[in-house]
Amino acid sequence: MTLPPHSLTATATGPIGVFDSGFGGLTVLQEIRARLPHYDYLFLGDNARAPYGGHSFDVVYQYTLQGVEALFEQGCHLVILACNTASAKALRTIQQHDLEKIDPNRRVLGVIRPTAEIVGHLTTTRHVGLLATPGTISSKSYDMEIQKLHPDVKVTGVACPMWVPLVENFEYDKPGADYFVKAKIDELMERDRQIDVMILGCTHFPFLLPKIAHYLPTCVKAISQGQYVAEQLEDYLHRHQEMDCKCSKGGSCRYLTTEDSEIFNKTARLFLREDVNAMQIVLN
Ligand code: DGL
Repeated sequence: MTLPPHSLTATATGPIGVFDSGFGGLTVLQEIRARLPHYDYLFLGDNARAPYGGHSFDVVYQYTLQGVEALFEQGCHLVILACNTASAKALRTIQQHDLEKIDPNRRVLGVIRPTAEIVGHLTTTRHVGLLATPGTISSKSYDMEIQKLHPDVKVTGVACPMWVPLVENFEYDKPGADYFVKAKIDELMERDRQIDVMILGCTHFPFLLPKIAHYLPTCVKAISQGQYVAEQLEDYLHRHQEMDCKCSKGGSCRYLTTEDSEIFNKTARLFLREDVNAMQIVLN
């Protein structure tokens, strides 16, 4: 279905857009809504084309740009890429090249910077682990971001190509998931035994937290991003009143998906534990 574009005038307010390749971004959305409940939100999951993790840089960039443009068309002035793969592979180009052409007054923010900021304050050994999709690991975005902010912190990353499919296929709490979770945690800890903070660098991974906590050494703290992204968004809106006043505040949350809406609703309901009534859209 094609949604009619929202008529955007300079003074019109709009919801905060939240974009992910699939369902993982719902973990971020939940934390943002819990911290900032009075804003309106519009979530878009590109479920028909998820997962993004194994796609090339250019494909992730094109898909993400299409998602951002769709959210802008629906009246969002501010879009959060609640996806590490999209933040790693598309955010910088969108911020530096596309926004200027689309509308220099709109903003797109990612999830890597807020996470990179916080880890430097949480690690005592200055050795940080990163588990993420192959795309995020190969982009080296975390290494670069952490290096800029906390140059004394050493980052060791391990790609977990099976973890997103485990979540998307509702296998994350099944016994079969244990093998994949344990294998990657063991690989990470063998590569650097001094790690005391481990970033879950994919918004899908919090669904695996009970199993991660089971296999992770107790001296290592696992960091889920949602809480920190929500804190940073609150701070951003506080510092940027010109953007804050463009974000509508009705406490609503709507959902868009590129998959069949019934499929999305059924799964999102299980993840969110609340009823969801999504609308299907086509991105191109
Ligand atoms: N939630 C996305 C992330 O944070 C999942 C990536 C994917 O679609 O592979 O990276």
